[in-house]
Amino acid sequence: MEKEEVLVFSKYSESAMALFEQRFKLHVLADAADQRALLTSLGPRIRALATNGESGASAELMDALPNLEVIVCNGVGVDAVDLAHAAKRGIRVTNTPGVLTEDVADMGMGLLLATVRQIPQCDAYVRSGKWGHTPLPLTARVFGKKIGILGMGRVGRAFAHRAAAFDLTISYHDRICFDDLGYTYYDNVVDLARDSDFLVICASANSENKASIGGAVLDALGKDGFLINIARGSIVNEPVLVEYLQEKRIAGAGIDVFWNEPAIDPRFWKLDNVVLQAHRASATTETRAAMAQLAFDNLSAFFDGKPLLTEYKAMQ
Ligand code: 8YV
Repeated sequence: MEKEEVLVFSKYSESAMALFEQRFKLHVLADAADQRALLTSLGPRIRALATNGESGASAELMDALPNLEVIVCNGVGVDAVDLAHAAKRGIRVTNTPGVLTEDVADMGMGLLLATVRQIPQCDAYVRSGKWGHTPLPLTARVFGKKIGILGMGRVGRAFAHRAAAFDLTISYHDRICFDDLGYTYYDNVVDLARDSDFLVICASANSENKASIGGAVLDALGKDGFLINIARGSIVNEPVLVEYLQEKRIAGAGIDVFWNEPAIDPRFWKLDNVVLQAHRASATTETRAAMAQLAFDNLSAFFDGKPLLTEYKAMQ
């Protein structure tokens, strides 16, 4: 039997590619010398597109694939997929909810500790041989403080679970007030930030919250406050954040996600009050394997005519 053809936006990891290749004939768009030519020759045959959270799928790409029926996203965030266009075309979208939650929450807690306790800065200090010669300033404390969580979905809840172990007082803002949670609910993020020492962004990105964390929220967080972002760069007004960090109008930030990855604003490199990650929250061997398996299983279900395992629905 001929393998079913799948267009892959850009190459997955070696192990994920090997998994997919067991069943599918993969065409990697990003590897094509002439992408337009590839789309012209292959486009009409393609029923399934495999992408990831960062690359998504534009309306233009979908329209180069007239018989596209499913977009399988190897990631939970589908903000880079033009969902309105997919819906208009009747193209279904799957993502990988659940399997990466705990790793992302771990990264949030790691970034919080690293940023507030200045762990990378001290690592650099020890390596530079300054220990014993130049004193290091004391840092703020983490345990027992007040944390505000923006977005109380899977990741927000998993983060809250960790925060509780650090005796943090937990509050949150979400579109929904969840009666099953014992945490304090705020109906807006400015008031949440004002009452928090640390604000951690766990929300999924959409057109409504684009650049919504700007001056008003950062002013409310204040000069002793820290911002942690493990969600999407787009939720933050990045030029404003850089300014606030440069002027020490907030104390610091731990950031895994940016506006323009991987070519991030170079002003971040010069800041001594940030800890930077390279969109790594789900980047563990175990989780990436589980994500690839779920994406593979969704693709297989599609070609087998079975129900998709994790079809994305807005307001999930
Ligand atoms: C990944 C992510 O970086 O799941 C998401 O939404 O952003 C990440 O897990 C990516 O999609 C992996 O390919």
